Amino acid sequence: MRFDTVIRNGTVVTATDTYISDIGISGGRIAAIALGLPIENAGKVIDATGLLVMPGGIDVHTHLDMPFGGTTSTDDFETGTIAAAFGGTTTLIDFAIQTKGHSLRQAFDTWMKKADRKAAIDYAFHCIITDLGAAQLEEMGALIGEGVSSFKLFMAYPGVLMVDDATIFRAMSQAAKFGGLICMHAENGGAIDVIVQKALAEGKKSPKYHALTRPTTAEGEATSRAIALAEMAGAPVYIVHLSCNDALEKVREARDRDLPAYAETCPQYLYLSLDNMDAPGFEGAKYVFTPPLREKWHQEKLWQGLAHDTLQVVSTDHCPFCFKEQKEMGRDDFTKIPNGGPGIEHRLSLIYTGGVHGGRFSPNRFVQLVATAPAKLFGLFPRKGTIAIGSDADLVIFDPNQEQTISAATHHMRVDYSMFEGIRVKGVPKTVLSHGRPVIENGIFVGKAGSGEFVRRQRYAGI
Ligand code: URP
Ligand code: ZN
Ligand code: ZN
Repeated sequence: MRFDTVIRNGTVVTATDTYISDIGISGGRIAAIALGLPIENAGKVIDATGLLVMPGGIDVHTHLDMPFGGTTSTDDFETGTIAAAFGGTTTLIDFAIQTKGHSLRQAFDTWMKKADRKAAIDYAFHCIITDLGAAQLEEMGALIGEGVSSFKLFMAYPGVLMVDDATIFRAMSQAAKFGGLICMHAENGGAIDVIVQKALAEGKKSPKYHALTRPTTAEGEATSRAIALAEMAGAPVYIVHLSCNDALEKVREARDRDLPAYAETCPQYLYLSLDNMDAPGFEGAKYVFTPPLREKWHQEKLWQGLAHDTLQVVSTDHCPFCFKEQKEMGRDDFTKIPNGGPGIEHRLSLIYTGGVHGGRFSPNRFVQLVATAPAKLFGLFPRKGTIAIGSDADLVIFDPNQEQTISAATHHMRVDYSMFEGIRVKGVPKTVLSHGRPVIENGIFVGKAGSGEFVRRQRYAGI
C-alpha cells in the first residue's frame, strides 16, 4: 500500500476517542488509521510523536470582505483563510448577504465571486435574509438543495438587517420543510434602539455606551422568542454569538424540553468583559461588536455551558475592522463605530487553553466544540469534522504544550490590533493539512490562495 502522506505516531483525538496511531492519506482523504503503516514509498512522512492529531477546525461564523457599517471588513477570502489556517481552521462558513429587494441567489453568486481563487482552505456559505417575499421563500428550498443549507436572520439592527417575527416564522417554516437551519442573531433590536437614542440625547457617545445600551435582557428575550417561534414552526434553531447567562438559560430550558435548540459562543465572550471597554481614550472601540461584552461573571457561565452541552459550538464571528480609519469613524458617536472584531486565527488555541488546560473539559470535548459539532449541525459530517476512513484529510497537528503570546505584531489577520493582545495561550497548531496538502508547516504558510474549494453542505440532520 502506498500513501501520499503518512502522519506517524501521533495522538489521534476525535470527539469520542484518544489513541496513538499513524494516519495514511491518499488522494486528499484519510485512507488508513493504524500503527505501523508502511512509509518506504510514502510521498511524505510527518512525525507527530508527542503531538495531537485532530480534525481541522470548522469556523461556522465569519465575515470576510463584508460591507458593513459604511465600510468593509478588512480580511478578504485570501488573508482571512490564511489566518484561519494558521490557527488550525480548515473550513469556514461565511455569510452571503441578501440586498433588500434582490434575490437570495444574487447574494450567493456575489459571495462565490468574492471567494473564487482566493481561499486557501475550504469554505461554504450561509445566506443572510433581509427581505423575504414569495420569490425568496421559494429560493430557500433551491439553495438548500445546492448546499447553502442554513440562513441567518437578525432580530437586531433595525432599518438595516432586522426582520419582524412574521418573517422569522415564515423562514423557519420553510427551513423545516426543506431541511434548512435558521441561525439567529438574537437581540431585541427595537428596545435597544430606544435605549441608544436616549443615550445619544444625553450626550453618552463614547464606545462603552455601545455595551451599556444593549442589556443582557434584550438578548435573553430575543433568544426566548426565537426558540418559541422555532417551536411553533417545528424547526430547529441555532443561536449565534451567544454572550450572556440570560440567553444561556433560555437555551438550557429549551434543550431540557428536548427542543432542537442549539447555540454557539465565541472566544471574546469567554476571555473579555465590559472592563475592556474602559481602555484609555478611544481604545474601547476595539471591542465594539454585537452582542457586546458583558460583566465578567458571565464568562464562567459560558465555559460551563460549553462543558455541559448547553452550548454546542465555538465560532469566532470574525469581522475585522482596523482601529485606524475604520473604528475611528465613530470617534464622536459610538453608533458609527463599525461593529465587529477579529478572531479567526486564535479560536483553537484560546479554547484549548481555557477549556483543556483550564481543567473545564477534555481534549475530546474540545474537538467536539471546534470541529465535530459544527460539521454535524451544518451538513459537513462525516466528510469533515472527524478522523475516519474516507473523510477529507483536513487535519491539524497540534502541540498541546507550546506556548505563545497573542499579538497584532505577529498575527496574520489583516487588521491593526488584536482583541486578545498579550494573552498567553498553551496549545498551538504546528502543521495543518487541507485535503492532505500542507497549508501550514511548522508555523509557516506553505499553502496556496485559490486551493480552497466551495463545499456543498447537506441538509440539517441534527447532531
Ligand atoms: O458585531 C458583529 N457581530 N458584527 C458582525 C455582524 C453580526 O452581527 O454577526
Ligand atoms: Zn450577528
Ligand atoms: Zn457575525
